[in-house]
Amino acid sequence: MKQAEKHTSNVLNLSQNALTVLQKRYLKRNEEGKVVETPEELFRRVASFVAQADSLYGKTVEEIKQVEEEFYELMTTLSFLPNSPTLMNAKRRLGQLSACFVLPVDDSMESIFDAVKYAAIIHKSGGGTGFSFSRLRPKGDVVGSTKGISSGPISFMTVFDTATEAVKQGGTRRGANMGMLRVDHPDILEFITCKDNNYKLNNFNISVGLTEAFMRAVEEDSEYDLINPRTKKISGRLRAREVFEKIVNQAWKNGEPGIVFLDRINASNPTPMLGEIESTNPCGEQPLMPYESCNLGSINLAKMVRDSNVDWHKLKETIWKAVHFLDNVIDMNKYPLKLIDEMTKANRKIGLGVMGWADMLIQLRIPYNSERAIKLAEEVMGFIQSEGRLASSALAEERGVFPNYEHSIYNGEMPVRNATVTTIAPTGSLSIIAGCSSGIEPLFAVSFVRNVMEGTKLIEVNPYFEAEAKNRGLWSRELMERIADRGSLAHFDEIPDDMKKVFVTAHDITPTDHIRMQAAFQKYVDNAVSKTVNFPYQATTKDVEDVYMLAYKLGCKGVTVYRDGSREEQVLSTSKKA
Ligand code: CDP
Repeated sequence: MKQAEKHTSNVLNLSQNALTVLQKRYLKRNEEGKVVETPEELFRRVASFVAQADSLYGKTVEEIKQVEEEFYELMTTLSFLPNSPTLMNAKRRLGQLSACFVLPVDDSMESIFDAVKYAAIIHKSGGGTGFSFSRLRPKGDVVGSTKGISSGPISFMTVFDTATEAVKQGGTRRGANMGMLRVDHPDILEFITCKDNNYKLNNFNISVGLTEAFMRAVEEDSEYDLINPRTKKISGRLRAREVFEKIVNQAWKNGEPGIVFLDRINASNPTPMLGEIESTNPCGEQPLMPYESCNLGSINLAKMVRDSNVDWHKLKETIWKAVHFLDNVIDMNKYPLKLIDEMTKANRKIGLGVMGWADMLIQLRIPYNSERAIKLAEEVMGFIQSEGRLASSALAEERGVFPNYEHSIYNGEMPVRNATVTTIAPTGSLSIIAGCSSGIEPLFAVSFVRNVMEGTKLIEVNPYFEAEAKNRGLWSRELMERIADRGSLAHFDEIPDDMKKVFVTAHDITPTDHIRMQAAFQKYVDNAVSKTVNFPYQATTKDVEDVYMLAYKLGCKGVTVYRDGSREEQVLSTSKKA
């Protein structure tokens, strides 16, 4: 085969969208920029590389080959995929395999600019970085060495933002950052609206870290203390409800800031003796200690259905192999910093999650917004959590517990190889490669236009819908186009009710349904759950507030909301806003 044609090979039966994405960002290129790898070669490269970790634990060449075959099959059957950096960088020069990092930012110039530099190195390799800016002294505070005044956390965030813009991740993917500020930081009000006008911060997702004390003050309608992180003294007081309303209004307006329940995250910190968790990765699903990184991977639930039932046997096998895979990634990873190498290997966190949840429900003919769906979510994720822990425990028998085990909540309980096992990632790119619905999200639309990278547009009809529509004699090009125009089936008289219920979309279901599903998964996830709560354009700020309070009550670790049409550019869009 001629090299230039390599990407057209498609024995794996990948969708056109998957091929486009792989070709643009994942497949190896030569010096002239030509693709010199097929998707099978990509999966072979990753499988053989990740399997090599077994040699560290005394496995023979034959055994390693067998592991390689298992990993190859996991990926080529699209049953499981590791996060993008693993697919892009395994056995290649950068060799950095994780999606998630958190870096500390201390209250000194040196620390701030160290963090900028480390972030640039991480972005170059396709990883995302999270920072808490809560340790920085507030704007207008004194600066000892110069007797000047400090410019404050938000001003420094622009430095990170500009650096991220300049790096552009070596052409593979844009840098992504999480910027977090505690609600008791004196600059909190400026932070809440920082993306509004003065500061663009386009390379940041921002979240406010809410404390239990703050949430209590909201409930009681009282004031709470602002603390200057430099002096540790109270520098003022604010009425909690006013701050909460400001966050809600801003999120209603443009989807940000998100909120994160910091104390709750720390309540499930597996290594509390080693320090506090201050931030998550960019999309919020992975809380980490400073200098920690985590690699994620997702099981494609669309492939775990057999004869209209969940294929528990296949799911179990996939979980065990996936935990083995992700634990191996920790050993094969080339870390951008020695400190990150040490921290990551001391806790050995992995984040196994799912994608294709909506596709699984469709195959089982269970509406996403139903009690049955909530119950099944708990069963499926409960199973992944318990089997995942057992798999990690079996690895511990063979390879030893994670080095910080003695300082962890597991000490004296069960031996485990990994301080955390489960995380639900957004699977933005992975779900395109696997051709399934993303993460635990409902279908965005039955038929829609997808903007992949700058300027490229793809029209997609949900494959299950297409098959059923054809079977029932409902299919026509013209109908699909009209559905693409609206996204949802709700107003199509020609579509029978049973189909409308099963092919329900993100806009057909209530924000409460979204949060209840997030909470159902969160119950059985060590880390956090990536989920967007979609609101219709007409939603009120009160609707957003109610969802925040419900998320708090139901045990979620954070919330991200999005009101349709509130931002100019959407990654996924139906041509008409609902
Ligand atoms: O599907 P894929 O593995 O590409 O990524 P995802 O599940 O959508 O996102 C997982 C994590 O990857 C995010 O939370 C970020 O930490 C990181 N990420 C990033 O750094 N830059 C991006 N453009 C997208 C994701």
